Amino acid sequence: IDIKSLRGVTDSVITIDPGFKNTGSCESAITFLDGEKGILRYRGYPIEQLAEQATFLEVSYALIFGDLPTTDQLKKFKQDICDQSILDEDVRKIVEAFPKSAHPMGVISSLTSALTAFNPSSVNVNSEEDMYKAIVKILGKFPVLVAWTMRKKQGLPLDYGDCNLGYVENMYKMMFKQPNKEFVTNDIVVEALNKLLILHADHEQNCSTSTVRIAGSSHAGLFASLSAGISALWGPLHGGANQAVLEMLEAIKADGGDTKKYMAKAKDKDDPFRLMGFGHRVYKNFDPRAKIIKKAADEVLNDLGVEDPILAIAKGLEQEALNDPYFVDRKLYPNVDFYSGIIYRAMGIPVEMFTVMFALGRLPGWIAQWREMRLNKEPIGRPRQIYVGKTTRDFVDIDKR
Ligand code: ACO
Repeated sequence: IDIKSLRGVTDSVITIDPGFKNTGSCESAITFLDGEKGILRYRGYPIEQLAEQATFLEVSYALIFGDLPTTDQLKKFKQDICDQSILDEDVRKIVEAFPKSAHPMGVISSLTSALTAFNPSSVNVNSEEDMYKAIVKILGKFPVLVAWTMRKKQGLPLDYGDCNLGYVENMYKMMFKQPNKEFVTNDIVVEALNKLLILHADHEQNCSTSTVRIAGSSHAGLFASLSAGISALWGPLHGGANQAVLEMLEAIKADGGDTKKYMAKAKDKDDPFRLMGFGHRVYKNFDPRAKIIKKAADEVLNDLGVEDPILAIAKGLEQEALNDPYFVDRKLYPNVDFYSGIIYRAMGIPVEMFTVMFALGRLPGWIAQWREMRLNKEPIGRPRQIYVGKTTRDFVDIDKR
């Protein structure tokens, strides 16, 4: 089918597909996903190769512009991002005004939206050149916002890093640099963070990405569209699952490590409890990202010398689920969020920041999807409905109702 030929079609036949389980919303050349075979590729590059060999910045470039960059392209991209990595000093005041108790996802979505106020030229973006400027701006400023969101919560000064370092190493520095102490990098953490960010970088038309595309389809600016996507990511059925997994594993540990009890709860249809980090709309055999992350969790904890009893609980749950007909029949396997939190925690990242780390990783994917949507001149996203409300009735005065 020539999809473009369907663009003008708005006849009276409406398909209803709650949750868009069988509805494609666009053509896309960014990410290929085969849920039955457990295949994930960005721009054709297998996720396993990228996670092992690429840097997050190279992957970001490939997602956004189509191919892995040459040395010169990467150098320019990095420099352009570096040039944009300073925030207006008034942004600091906004960060400071949030209560320490605020959830970091609420803070980061607000700050991303607030950037439109400080960068009005990036709101009305139509040419590829303007798009590029808005893209390097957000790639430069977002990591600072992430670091400041965490540091504000911890009462640490809102510093800058050094954007001459690698993108991920600079991220690590901005998050963890302690006052009056020389910053010492940690190669194990930086490497693991690079891998995690790559594995989260895109996942075709998921809830937050569809949100970015649909918000952007009204020609709302890039930062506003990203802010909408961040809000969508926050929910525990999506990116918020990484925080929920860790809290669940902690609760099981505090309850004596009785995994069987929680397996039974997850299967009980009268109990709202779900095994967080299990199941996926598209993957029905395994999530290739979870495979890599599980291995990385073992390696990182070992390399950092961290012993975390919840890793054993997680592995126990996975083993039980693999042998349980409820999970096998419904094809429920660990997803990307099941083991990622264990690594984040070993790195010293607070639990409430986990979903923000997901957003940091997903940023290039959202940008790539937004750019593709605008370059393809997609029409405004506007689903239809089946009306099931009252038919016509007359207005009744308030004292007669
Ligand atoms: N624990 C227990 N039962 C589950 C779980 C789970 N984690 N996930 C799905 N099921 C059951 C459902 O109850 C349903 O059972 P039924 O057929 O008896 O009614 C069946 O499996 C199908 O589940 P749906 O909710 O219809 O599947 P859907 O594709 O709509 O949802 C989702 C996918 C949201 C990921 C779901 O599996 C879930 O809630 N998982 C837990 C949260 C989570 O880990 N989210 C992160 C997903 S990855 C990401 O977004 C980055």
